[in-house]
Amino acid sequence: MGGPTVKSLVNEAATRLRMAGVEGPRRDAELIVGHVLGLDRAAILAHGDDPVAEAPAARIDAMAAERAARRPMAQILGRREFWSLNFKVTEATLDPRPDTETLVEEVLSVIGLRRWKAFRLLDLGTGTGCILAALLTECPAATGVGVDRSAAAAAVARENMQALGLAPRARIQEGDWSDGLHERFDVIVSNPPYIPEADMARLAPEVRLFEPRTALTPGGDGLGAYRTILDRLPPVAAPGAIVAFEVGIGQAAAVAELMEAAGLGPVTTRRDLAGIERVVLGRFPQ
Ligand SMILES: C[S@@+](CC[C@H](N)C(=O)[O-])C[C@H]1O[C@@H](n2cnc3c(N)ncnc32)[C@H](O)[C@@H]1O
Repeated sequence: MGGPTVKSLVNEAATRLRMAGVEGPRRDAELIVGHVLGLDRAAILAHGDDPVAEAPAARIDAMAAERAARRPMAQILGRREFWSLNFKVTEATLDPRPDTETLVEEVLSVIGLRRWKAFRLLDLGTGTGCILAALLTECPAATGVGVDRSAAAAAVARENMQALGLAPRARIQEGDWSDGLHERFDVIVSNPPYIPEADMARLAPEVRLFEPRTALTPGGDGLGAYRTILDRLPPVAAPGAIVAFEVGIGQAAAVAELMEAAGLGPVTTRRDLAGIERVVLGRFPQ
């Protein structure tokens, strides 16, 4: 029997992932083989019979083993695309989700033509920095601050800003929400941890076992971070500041109530592509 080929490695990895219960096993197998060999999907098919040397074959085997243990693809590849931008992802950061693009879309639609003017953005719980980076990319005169309680996540966000050429307009700092900030912001966004404690055990292994717990849940009913953030925002909100939160399934009404109770209004919601109310947005009084 000859050594491994591109096709045999894809097939082996796909079988292994399928047996481990991974969703979309062939897609992930192709991504792993493509990543190690530097081939896109078309090239994998075109070069299926090409032999693969021992070292890359061993690397593919090691990555497939990690995926079979249910490590998320973004952590294995170390990258994830969000808003057509490429982000470094580590085990210290949440893997940016497509749902979160709804938050970026809603903020852009509400600010309209102000998007071209200079304004100040604040992203609380910035993780990889994906929301802040997407908004700064779309708003070329804006500047922003991203805060995360995790020093490791803040370091990744800082690297991402640098790699995307946004560092001159983005300051990333470690902190507990807006504590310690002595500036006012026109647009405040957050995708805080919101999974209720009781739902944690039902999460897919990729999320439950590998993503940082402090990025997923604030404990209790899942609304604690919204309460804390809304309590602390007044000193950092400019008059008329927009506040936009991503929320979990079934949380929009409760978060809208919290915003109204904090004196923000009018409060609106926006659905994601799956039809789930995903964003709650309000304004501080002028
Ligand atoms: C759901 S993740 C969102 C990450 C990123 N913004 C995104 O949308 O992909 C929540 C983030 O909030 C951070 N976080 C949790 N508690 C925090 C706190 N008290 N102050 C600042 N950041 C916090 C976590 O470390 C995590 O990076």
